[in-house]
Amino acid sequence: MFNFTFHNPTKVFFGKDTIRLIAGEIPPVARVMIVHGGAGGRASGALDEVGEALREVDCTDFGGVAPNPEYDRMLDGVALAREKKIDFLLAVGGGSVIDAAKFMSAAIPFAGDPFLLMDKAGAAIRETLPVGAVVTLPASGSEMNSRAIISRKACQIKKGIMNPLLHPRFAVLDPTKTYTLPCAQIGNGVVDTFVHVLEQYLTYPVAGEVQDCLAEGLLQALIDQGPRALAEPQNYDVRANLMWAATLGLNGLIGAGVPQDWSAHRLGYELTVLYGLAHAETLACLVPAMLAVRLPTKREKLLRYGERIWGITAGDEATRLAQAIDRTRAFFEAMGLPTRLGGYGLEKVDVERVTELLAAHGMFNMGERQDVTPDMIRDILQRCL
Ligand code: NZQ
Ligand code: ZN
Repeated sequence: MFNFTFHNPTKVFFGKDTIRLIAGEIPPVARVMIVHGGAGGRASGALDEVGEALREVDCTDFGGVAPNPEYDRMLDGVALAREKKIDFLLAVGGGSVIDAAKFMSAAIPFAGDPFLLMDKAGAAIRETLPVGAVVTLPASGSEMNSRAIISRKACQIKKGIMNPLLHPRFAVLDPTKTYTLPCAQIGNGVVDTFVHVLEQYLTYPVAGEVQDCLAEGLLQALIDQGPRALAEPQNYDVRANLMWAATLGLNGLIGAGVPQDWSAHRLGYELTVLYGLAHAETLACLVPAMLAVRLPTKREKLLRYGERIWGITAGDEATRLAQAIDRTRAFFEAMGLPTRLGGYGLEKVDVERVTELLAAHGMFNMGERQDVTPDMIRDILQRCL
């Protein structure tokens, strides 16, 4: 196991009727900006409950944050927050809304050009306003981690920043607030969470038995509970399990002390930039293709995954590896996500443009062994069609 430092300062409130607890976390004298998208926060009832919990507090509304949160829209929020002298940001929504609040929390107190905060993957961030998160879509894990993924269409950029200062102060996880999710978003959330676990598990063995078993537990829970969420949308326990799995999938726990990959994510960002695919849609196509192309270096963990997660023990090694990939693909499809780009109406990909964008974004050496070459990327993309 590698050496590691693990520090996660986000306080979690989990369960029914927990939104009201935010009143104890936000000072009554705070000037709060409530950041949201619009649809999800209202449909779920989360925005109303937030309003009720903070009725004594000075709140400013900032809605209209769309999926893949856009830099220019966030600048509107930064200007509003400065005008209103905001000193606390409360995100009510999914990963896009939480990420937007995190970015704005760094940009509001920053005197320079906010775009500079995207440099060096967020390492330049020195100060942030406190952020709280009320989650309405379990997927990103953003509510309990230090990342934010920001898009800027004008520059064809979708890029992650990471900084310990971006950890939310608290996260409210009320599973009843996910009942209104359409099936497509339930599927996206399960597949995104599944791939977060794979990116931290399907690498190479370093005797991190605790991390591997935690990851396998999350994968098994997702395989069991994911399809049930589609079939029984009002089942509280199923929603609760998916919500906690999403948070634990990317809060630093399972990735501490083990190698991490993240190339499916990074490559997926370019597909979102160029073709507008939702985040999880890119992953559903890329992961099976990527595992096939990168078999030689992922062999040992893929065999373990096949055996422990899918019960694949018979046949020669090549057959077992192929079956592990096939079962993964079938699971994504069962969650309602096509695993070929054609399933999203995309018949061809500008492979050269994708590799150019990756290079422009400094992504030359992706993967746990920094060995994903442009030729491999071409091969992966061809296999996604
Ligand atoms: O935004 P609103 O209006 O609320 O509507 C959303 C949006 O249209 C809707 N929705 C959310 N909760 C709902 C609901 N609709 C009905 N009922 C509810 N309860 O769902 C749509 C998608 O929301 P979004 O926030 O975009 O989804 P998700 O949580 O999957 O977040 C995706 C974003 O997170 C980034 C992705 O790249 C993408 O930009 N990620 C962030 C990560 C992080 N910060 O650690 C890691 C992830 O790998 C990921 O990259
Ligand atoms: Zn993701």
